Amino acid sequence: MRYGYFDDTAREYVITRPDTPLPWINYLGNDGFFSLISNTCGGYSFYKDAKLRRITRFRYNNVPADDGGRCFYVCDGDTVWSPAFLPAGTPLDSYRCRHGMGYSVFEGRKNGVSASLTVMVPMGVNLEVQKLELTNDTDQAKTLTVYGAVEWCLWNAVDDATNFQRNWNIGEVEIEGGTIYHKTEYRERRDHYAFYSVNAPVAGFDTDRDAFLGQFRSWRNPKAVEERTSCGSIAAGWAPIAALRLNVDLAPGQTKTLLFRLGYVENPADRKFDALNVINKDLAHRMMQDFSSEAQFDTAFDALRAYWAGLLSRFTVHSGEEKLDRMVNIWNQYQCMVTFNMSRSASYYESGTGRGMGFRDSCQDLLGFVHLIPQRARERIIDIASIQFADGSTYHQYQPLTRRGNADIGSGFNDDPLWLIACTCAYIRETGDFSILDEPTPFNNEPSTEVPLLEHLRRSLNYTVTHRGPHGLPLIGRADWNDCLNLNCFSLTPGESFQTCSNFESGKAESVFIAGMFVKYGAEYAALCDRIGLADEAADVRRSVQEIENAVLSHGWDGEWFRRAYDAFERPIGSQLNDEGRIYIEPQGFCVMAGIGGADYGRRALRSAVSLLGNEFGLEVLHPCYSEYHDYLGEISSYPPGYKENGSVFCHNNPWVILAFCAVGDGNGAFDLYTRQAPAYIEDKSEIHRTEPYCYSQTIAGRAARTYGEAKNSWLTGTAAWSFVAVSQGILGIRPDYDGLVVDPCLPDHMDGFRVSRVFRGTRYDIIVRRGAQKGLVVDGRPVTGNTVPLTDAPSCSVTLTI
Ligand code: BGC
Ligand code: NOJ
Repeated sequence: MRYGYFDDTAREYVITRPDTPLPWINYLGNDGFFSLISNTCGGYSFYKDAKLRRITRFRYNNVPADDGGRCFYVCDGDTVWSPAFLPAGTPLDSYRCRHGMGYSVFEGRKNGVSASLTVMVPMGVNLEVQKLELTNDTDQAKTLTVYGAVEWCLWNAVDDATNFQRNWNIGEVEIEGGTIYHKTEYRERRDHYAFYSVNAPVAGFDTDRDAFLGQFRSWRNPKAVEERTSCGSIAAGWAPIAALRLNVDLAPGQTKTLLFRLGYVENPADRKFDALNVINKDLAHRMMQDFSSEAQFDTAFDALRAYWAGLLSRFTVHSGEEKLDRMVNIWNQYQCMVTFNMSRSASYYESGTGRGMGFRDSCQDLLGFVHLIPQRARERIIDIASIQFADGSTYHQYQPLTRRGNADIGSGFNDDPLWLIACTCAYIRETGDFSILDEPTPFNNEPSTEVPLLEHLRRSLNYTVTHRGPHGLPLIGRADWNDCLNLNCFSLTPGESFQTCSNFESGKAESVFIAGMFVKYGAEYAALCDRIGLADEAADVRRSVQEIENAVLSHGWDGEWFRRAYDAFERPIGSQLNDEGRIYIEPQGFCVMAGIGGADYGRRALRSAVSLLGNEFGLEVLHPCYSEYHDYLGEISSYPPGYKENGSVFCHNNPWVILAFCAVGDGNGAFDLYTRQAPAYIEDKSEIHRTEPYCYSQTIAGRAARTYGEAKNSWLTGTAAWSFVAVSQGILGIRPDYDGLVVDPCLPDHMDGFRVSRVFRGTRYDIIVRRGAQKGLVVDGRPVTGNTVPLTDAPSCSVTLTI
């Protein structure tokens, strides 16, 4: 069943009923000011950091789940309704939510009044603008009372939700005309404030939540709204809000437009005040002026749409497969940009108060956005590498505001360093910018420890080479990509972190997955060395790669698939010797991508993976699921069977298997797996899948789960980047390389070809792939041997590949 439809021309998903199984959200903002917005207009805003600079409040664990957010009420006679259905919850005569690229539109109609509410964060401004258009579709005059309201967060989202003994005393606002300024803590060390205003005279306001809502009520039914009034309350502590009331008279057929503006301002420390404790509001005034007319709104809206159109035009496909095209051209790339902006911080599943930027997460995310924003990818690589330690190991996370490594989590995730090689090589292949390798980059952000980035890559590899276990395989440390395979943890204390307790330190537990990574990225590093004249180093690295490959062949192959690991007692994991967890997905993806054991092992491993791990939504992480907790395995066995790392379809690793299929030339296998989980392909199963049908989720409950097929943790997942890599570079086979653009598709039998338009190093390549008798590559009319389209200075280049 569906709850809406894709409008590909507008690049929107149109939700046609408010009761989606879960809030279906969108992201607004590109740079400083960000908002999450659900299909009923819930969600919250923050500036740069969802924990430390939260602008509006959101209650996780709330009942009902998606209460609050942007609260609009239209009072028409006896009826109070909200254009986006919530918060009023009054059934609407019609409802639509259109989530687009960086904006959302809510269209609600009730008793002959239609509302269209467009919400966006314009480019380059720290502001969310909410354009509310109200139209009287009847032949009677209407006298409406309209409210727009938000609830302020006292900046630090964790403190806001916990430190009540202080916080209920500090809330402060200022009111100037119809503008409410939120200035809690501005009197002391903060130099930022927020404001909420509307471009029309207000009839009244409230700034104290309890005065506005009244006792025993909620945002669903504020007392002030019920009484069509405002109290003019001035918040003093407790919960400051901004609630604006307007009178809107509409003649028959008339439309009126209101612009509500939720802004964030920082002032220089010496220009904070106009008078004692009175905010300097200059910047806010300017922002409001810039968004005081519909024409200004429309110009900014057009600029936002043009920005996205430009960005997404860097890679487009026309394949004849409508769903594939909409994933590639619109939603998958859009999600990649969201992961660039949010990492794993703020979603409806990530509270924005926990993790900062993950080392491995950020490196992998980059694979999905490097072609869109190469310059920012470059900065990101340097930021990431700067938290590495001199021995090649690295902090697992860093805080985006400070860029410092997160000492609470520390290091010891032994896959981490290798991801730096993956993303740096991808960046150079995309841009040709070898100069990044010379960029002075510190260790642990300590001044004067800077070495060229290349040295960081070298130490990354070396870390794996020098940290190996009894079978010659890489040591796993606290965990590898699978954060829940904690082979040195042995935790028996409730609540203890599985990742950080590491109380066994066997020095023995090994990872076949990291071995696969090493073989793949070691080879990439060696190729890079060759390019920059380091032939000896390339040869050395290749020797290490060979050694580790041999270790996998001797100890990592289980007969029909690759093993996963060896535990602290040197026992295999992911083997026929096990009762549960006999096969894991990760090494089937990575070892096959790396070519270990050639196409023969590859095909066998993939056959085993599909037959043992496959369900209709993809391949599960492992099989059979662990039915009880084992301290020697860690968190993986803590989850009930079928959930998360214990046997869900953990979507992130499925694209590895798609790429593995491509590596062995199996286009049907690759495409089949792609379509099992690409959101657009499972839109019809939305009532089972439950999360948004326009973005990937982290997990889909496996066969062993009670809720098989139900997805969770939508949006912020490495699935976005890897799925884009799998479809664009694997199935469509358009791969950036040092010397040009490789065109090497791996299509399913039913696809006859496709067209791709791709910007690469300043040239637009128009590529046609088709089937035919006269095989080969033709570039600008001339046949070319091999499958690499050579670099050119021309602005455009036309390519035809006949397969
Ligand atoms: C989750 C993992 C996650 C880890 C680190 C675990 O509880 O299952 O998916 O990577 O926490 O935050
Ligand atoms: C989510 C984490 O963000 C990621 O780093 C990890 O690889 C996966 N979970 C698998 O455990």
